[in-house]
Amino acid sequence: MMDTNAALYGDLTQILVTREEIAAAVRKLGQQITQDYQGKELMMVGILKGAVVFFADLLREIDLPVKMEFMAVSSYGATTKTTGVVKLVKDLTVDITGMHVLIVEDIVDSGMTLSYLSKYLETRGAASIKIATLLDKPERRRVDLKADYFCFTIPDKFVVGYGLDYDEKYRNLPDIGVLDPRVYGGN
Ligand code: PRP
Repeated sequence: MMDTNAALYGDLTQILVTREEIAAAVRKLGQQITQDYQGKELMMVGILKGAVVFFADLLREIDLPVKMEFMAVSSYGATTKTTGVVKLVKDLTVDITGMHVLIVEDIVDSGMTLSYLSKYLETRGAASIKIATLLDKPERRRVDLKADYFCFTIPDKFVVGYGLDYDEKYRNLPDIGVLDPRVYGGN
């Protein structure tokens, strides 16, 4: 359904994952997490900003008491993807000692952001740390990192929508699509 955001959809070459496919996968993942965390204190930690849409949907598919926190990291300009240097720009607001932490991300690419965050959260005394990501792009991995939960494995294409951006645009598209390279000067 492409009735809204017509101008934004015009910048895509392809819809990679539809909103219906996303909703079904998120529902299934929520059920799995509900089973796996029975009797545990679950703290979902969303990583701003891309994960916000996935986080909000996943949260409502989990039938357990859940606490939520958000963290933000920033890349040092364009260098992060190559150096792995990540700067924490928004920290947790509560003590997570003894909590079962589920980090929620929109995409694992090189794996450097999550590698950094997992190590950091370990130092904060969590009882366990797991990772849930909507998208996994294994071809791009630079560090040995596996998500405990993921919804879709995708090829190495520039994807936007459902929280993912290019230059802060397209986050509000309900589907995930491949951005036309002409938009970012590629070919
Ligand atoms: C994206 C994504 C992850 C990270 C994944 O965030 O949300 O945090 O990149 O890449 P990596 O596996 O190579 O570390 P981005 O820096 O685009 O920020 P945003 O979520 O605010 O859009």
